[in-house]
Amino acid sequence: MNREPKDIHALRQNYTRAELDESEVGRNPIQLFKQWFGEAQHTNILEPNAMVLSTVSADLRVHARTVLLKEITESGFVFYTNYESAKAMDIEHSAHVSITFLWKEMERQIRIEGMAQKISVERSEKYFQSRPRGSQLGAWASPQSDIISDRSVLHDNLNELEQKYPEGTQIPIPPQWGGYEITPDFVEFWQGRESRLHDRLAFTTEDGEWKVVRLAP
Ligand SMILES: Cc1cc2nc3c(=O)[nH]c(=O)nc-3n(C[C@H](O)[C@H](O)[C@H](O)COP(=O)(O)O)c2cc1C
Repeated sequence: MNREPKDIHALRQNYTRAELDESEVGRNPIQLFKQWFGEAQHTNILEPNAMVLSTVSADLRVHARTVLLKEITESGFVFYTNYESAKAMDIEHSAHVSITFLWKEMERQIRIEGMAQKISVERSEKYFQSRPRGSQLGAWASPQSDIISDRSVLHDNLNELEQKYPEGTQIPIPPQWGGYEITPDFVEFWQGRESRLHDRLAFTTEDGEWKVVRLAP
């Protein structure tokens, strides 16, 4: 079977599913995010909470990777990771981050920019204890972002941990693992429209009051 890429120039989708109007977005982007997220959960989207997190390193390079949204609070968006990972080093250098959700099936994109801040150990611990055992051990076993010689490093770590924490014992939260909450100061809702004349409504804030502006597509 020929698996060569076909003509990429010709790949083109016309967006006609919905519209986005100023009259329907309200005054709080987190509320609107929750509404869109709920709609995404009721659409056949695999992992609607997957988001691309972009950070900037000390040498001003941009780094992007996918993480999972695990909580939406009154004030922001929470994800969990390793506090010694490359992304954590970036955030230490600059707390300004961006997250992007793409829900293709709904012809929607949400871009969020804001400041990331570690959440309390108590909050991280509560979530850690709710995770499946395998994920808990995985958080201990992986020196995230480090170069490792081969996969056996992870298996060896896991074997050791399984002996240290036999089935039935509680696994403590690793000190290098926890959550970040992103407090937004820019949230853009994008709805695909016909002829590339998409709807883009952006919430901005400088003083806690949100303002909605329409951006050209
Ligand atoms: C669908 C998906 C979900 C992911 N979720 C997370 C997550 O919630 N937390 C995390 O640390 N890494 C997650 N990862 C792995 C990251 O993309 C990344 O490889 C890892 O965090 C290391 O990134 P860094 O070296 O830039 O710190 C996920 C990857 C994918 C593809």
